[in-house]
Amino acid sequence: MLRAIYPGSFDPVTFGHLDIIERSSSLVDELIVGVLNNNAKCPLFSVEERVRMLEEVTKSIPNVRIIPFEGLLADFAKAMDARMIIRGLRAITDFEYELQMAQTNHKLSPQLETAFLTTGLAYSYLSSSIVKEVAAFGGDISQFVPEIIIEKIQEKISKRRV
Ligand code: PNS
Repeated sequence: MLRAIYPGSFDPVTFGHLDIIERSSSLVDELIVGVLNNNAKCPLFSVEERVRMLEEVTKSIPNVRIIPFEGLLADFAKAMDARMIIRGLRAITDFEYELQMAQTNHKLSPQLETAFLTTGLAYSYLSSSIVKEVAAFGGDISQFVPEIIIEKIQEKISKRRV
């Protein structure tokens, strides 16, 4: 049984993340989407909200589970009995940070391998931060995130303005 973890902040989940979730879940028996609970990053959405949004947009994929985590990814992978970490690579600019993370995780837990999927070309420019910025200035984010996420972002942003 091959269980993999796709970790991230997912603040919020975008079509780029969904592309990686769909493609990697077809390669493994079970994919756990690990949602980092780290308030130091000052996320727009609480970890509970991010988990709920991910559950909603992945509900049609049977072998995907959404689980929040704190602390080291290597410890979370061990606790979940997962042997593989999945990360998406958008461009060469992602590479240095991703290499550093993969090698650190491998040092911390030598049986843990990181596999990279190149992000679909249509999403290679996309990030959660860009989505939040476009939304904050009233731009159209319908090409970037699923419909239900648009509503949630707009709700959050309008509350922040009050
Ligand atoms: O979506 P992100 O913010 O690029 O995801 C980054 C994430 C959550 C994968 C990374 O910050 C992480 O693994 N954090 C847990 C802490 C950890 O294990 N650090 C050591 C490895 S560098």
